[in-house]
Amino acid sequence: IRPHRIAVIPGDGIGKEVVPAGLQVLDAAAARFDVPLEYEHFDFASADYWLAHGTMLPDDWFETLRGFDAIYFGAVGWPDVVPDHVSLWGSLIQFRRRFDQYISLRPCRLLPGIPSPLVGRAPGDIDFVVVRENTEGEYSSIGGKIFHDTDREVVVQQTVMTRTGVDRVLRYAFELASRRERRKITSATKSNGITISMPYWDERFAAMGEQFPEVERDQFHIDILAANFVLHPDWFDVVVASNLFGDILSDLGPACTGTIAVAPSANINPDGLFPSLFEPVHGSAPDIAGKGIANPIGQIWCGAMMLDHLGHPDASSAILAAIDTVLERAEPGILTPDVGGGGTTSSLTRAIADAVADASLEE
Ligand code: NAD
Ligand code: IPM
Ligand code: MN
Repeated sequence: IRPHRIAVIPGDGIGKEVVPAGLQVLDAAAARFDVPLEYEHFDFASADYWLAHGTMLPDDWFETLRGFDAIYFGAVGWPDVVPDHVSLWGSLIQFRRRFDQYISLRPCRLLPGIPSPLVGRAPGDIDFVVVRENTEGEYSSIGGKIFHDTDREVVVQQTVMTRTGVDRVLRYAFELASRRERRKITSATKSNGITISMPYWDERFAAMGEQFPEVERDQFHIDILAANFVLHPDWFDVVVASNLFGDILSDLGPACTGTIAVAPSANINPDGLFPSLFEPVHGSAPDIAGKGIANPIGQIWCGAMMLDHLGHPDASSAILAAIDTVLERAEPGILTPDVGGGGTTSSLTRAIADAVADASLEE
């Protein structure tokens, strides 16, 4: 059988530490479940590449990557060398847009052994998924600046919502909700203050909802929704949001589970015309980069999402089970410092890879 061809792009900072960790666990799952994976490694989308070439990506990046079955990505951003808006717009955001990865799927689950900062919350209380619109909305290049360097400077950046763009993310979120046990969807909005685009989103949400009568619908303005993530995380099942609101909620949700370091994301092109991209929610963490202490779980969980996407649900579940097993054991020498341990990226990775390899753990 033809192997799945994976483009591996570590990026910057801890991306270079957690991506090899993720591959180690992927290899353990691939060996146990006979999944043929073939990696090709790329050094672009990084500050090093920028220093050498003055751009974030080679001219032919689109042709180079488009034939892969998936992209396994770390994190980009090294603001001491290249401004964030240049490095991110010049790499990750191009991938999402040009490969039409219009769904950003960001599961958020309170894991065993990692205490929630919310008093009294235990695993089971927080288990939802943010479905973030990933190609338009507030992330637009339409706008500009006039009267440069004068007191009259004016800056405008437009929000773009297309009917196709809004409907396709809403449909995906409703379909996902209808397959889940609780069948509940919550829409993030702000139609009291942002009075053109957000009422449009609400209108499309209501229209889409009519096609999914089995799904319970709820909506909140983003401000109180943020408060409710903290006060009532158990209310949420599928949360659908515009690009910016989804970005914010997908750091807030994982923070409620103790650390953003465990949170994965899948940038999906559901039509299958282009590769989907799997990356943790966190960034390059310059403050801890190079120390070997980054928590690899977000990146490892991305590997599980990638295997599921490629049609290997068993291998995917084995990785998720291994993460739970290792966290339940709560060995302080194994866990990384962000979750209260004294271990390293490699101790935690090895423990998870060993647990993946050990089928008896699933009995
Ligand atoms: P960040 O996620 O990199 O770090 C925020 C905090 O969380 C830091 O204290 C960091 O040490 C900690 N942290 C993050 N991941 C961790 C992990 N795996 N283990 C332990 N601790 C972890 O966010 P930031 O500081 O806002 O951004 C740093 C750089 O990363 C910037 O250049 C930013 O633009 C970029 N960034 C990239 C992505 C991406 O590539 N998808 C996402 C977010 C931020
Ligand atoms: C994320 C990140 C990116 C985003 C940044 C780095 C451009 O925060 O993937 O959540 O805003 O989408
Ligand atoms: Mn983010």
